[in-house]
Amino acid sequence: MNQTLHIAIIMDGNGRWAEKQGQKRVKGHEQGAKVVRTITEFCAAHKNIERLTLYAFSTENWKRPRLEVEFLMKLLEKYLKNEMEVYIKNNIRFEPIGDIRAFSTSLQKLIKEVKQKTEHCDGLVQSLALNYGSHDEILRAINTLKNEKNDITDEMLSNALDCKHQVDIMIRTGGDHRISNFLLWQLSYAELFFTDTLWPDFNEEELKKILNDFTKRERRFGGLN
Ligand code: IPE
Ligand code: IPE
Ligand code: MG
Repeated sequence: MNQTLHIAIIMDGNGRWAEKQGQKRVKGHEQGAKVVRTITEFCAAHKNIERLTLYAFSTENWKRPRLEVEFLMKLLEKYLKNEMEVYIKNNIRFEPIGDIRAFSTSLQKLIKEVKQKTEHCDGLVQSLALNYGSHDEILRAINTLKNEKNDITDEMLSNALDCKHQVDIMIRTGGDHRISNFLLWQLSYAELFFTDTLWPDFNEEELKKILNDFTKRERRFGGLN
């Protein structure tokens, strides 16, 4: 198998998971955060996996009720504070993507701190997509390049994006078959996997199955095999 797999996951279905059990939507987010840890640790232990990019909060998620957004911000803060040790212990480098300038100053500081404290880790790279939207990412990249005298190349645009790496495996949980503004540039030749499992129920077994199915797919990248 490829030694440098990049897996990206749209972690969807937290709210429905909670509602199904008669609980508030936020309970699903809490449970979902635990699954982030399990899946991250599994990927860190899997030597073929180089990157794991997880969609945690989109540029469109601000449209949700204020209380849910506030809960998600607090949960992110709690998660990052708790995970610092887990990152270091598992040699995981944390590289957030998205425009974090929209977050509170204290949350921005914490995000930068975790990034800086794990900079030396050379195992799995875990990227949380935070206030991330592909349109926003591409526009920010174009704006940094707009004064270039020469034509912009594929490589120049790739390097100006928050996420500079093409995705191999894209998984969406929660039953919907859409991309929801996630990594549009980086997904160009990704193998797509959609599962009805709601994110809080996703587990290592299901990920193992997807990894196994991936090895059976024939990736042609436009050529002939
Ligand atoms: C994904 O779960 C988490 C975030 C978008 C923050 P949802 O909150 O979208 O859960 P559903 O899709 O409504 O069930
Ligand atoms: C995508 O889920 C965003 C995250 C998982 C963070 P959404 O629940 O926001 O997507 P839509 O609205 O169903 O497309
Ligand atoms: Mg959703």
